[in-house]
Amino acid sequence: MTQILIVGATSAMARGAAFAWAAQGHRLLLAGRDLNELARLASDIQVRFQTRAEVIELDLDDNADRPAWVTNLEANYGQVDGVLLAAGWMPEAESMRRGDVAIQVIQRNYTGPVALLNAFADVFEQRELGFIVGIASVAGDRGRQSNYPYGAAKAGFATYLAGLRNRLFHAGVSVMTVKPGFVDTRMTFGLPGLFLVADPMQVGEVIVNSQRKGRNEIYVPGFWRLILLIIRHVPELIFKRLKL
Ligand SMILES: NC(=O)c1ccc[n+]([C@@H]2O[C@H](COP(=O)([O-])OP(=O)(O)OC[C@H]3O[C@@H](n4cnc5c(N)ncnc54)[C@H](OP(=O)(O)O)[C@@H]3O)[C@@H](O)[C@H]2O)c1
Repeated sequence: MTQILIVGATSAMARGAAFAWAAQGHRLLLAGRDLNELARLASDIQVRFQTRAEVIELDLDDNADRPAWVTNLEANYGQVDGVLLAAGWMPEAESMRRGDVAIQVIQRNYTGPVALLNAFADVFEQRELGFIVGIASVAGDRGRQSNYPYGAAKAGFATYLAGLRNRLFHAGVSVMTVKPGFVDTRMTFGLPGLFLVADPMQVGEVIVNSQRKGRNEIYVPGFWRLILLIIRHVPELIFKRLKL
């Protein structure tokens, strides 16, 4: 039995993963900003699965001393054996063209997650134990006019995770990158042009099963790997003319 920290635990995808891990008897630390919602989730998990779930306050906008935060977390709740970084933010397309919003998008999808995972990487590497799962996005595979600040932050995050995987492999620590396609969550609610929208609870289950199998990078659902392979190969001469 291990203890897993889920960052952005109010996300519906993270909830799916939390349920799957709790069903296997793992203890959970549910981190995020909305303490009331996290407390509801923790109670739900404890009743359903008879496993411990604690609420942890964490705001990725806050440039806190993350190594100290991790030390403090483990001092209060015990050893963390795995981390799911599910937090992310994609505001409305037009607003992302504003510099201040774009910077916030980068903070929540890239800078904040990297600062936290760096701290865990050092601890796991030294312990030669642990796993990290980060949720990036298919949006990071090619820049599109509708969400390129978000896509760029997710691309950076995916590259960071790939490098971290290479570094931590030598310490026996696994790092998995998750690239979801469209998933039916708060983030995509009401967005136009969605297709092949996946169920977030199923996506969460896939994340847990894939981590267990030691996968490096997954697209969820899997057919998005092929779709993105095609999209990445559209010549720029054509791609730049499309309204995507
Ligand atoms: N839905 C999709 O189609 C899709 C596709 C590809 C990738 N993704 C990625 O999947 C992950 C889960 O997203 P979702 O679709 O489930 O959307 P969501 O419901 O909006 O979840 C986003 C999560 O990020 C947390 N978060 C945002 N800003 C934060 C901050 N400053 N500090 C701490 N936590 C913060 C939110 O917490 P609060 O409750 O405090 O707001 C929430 O738990 C994200 O990384 C997203 O980018 C989603």
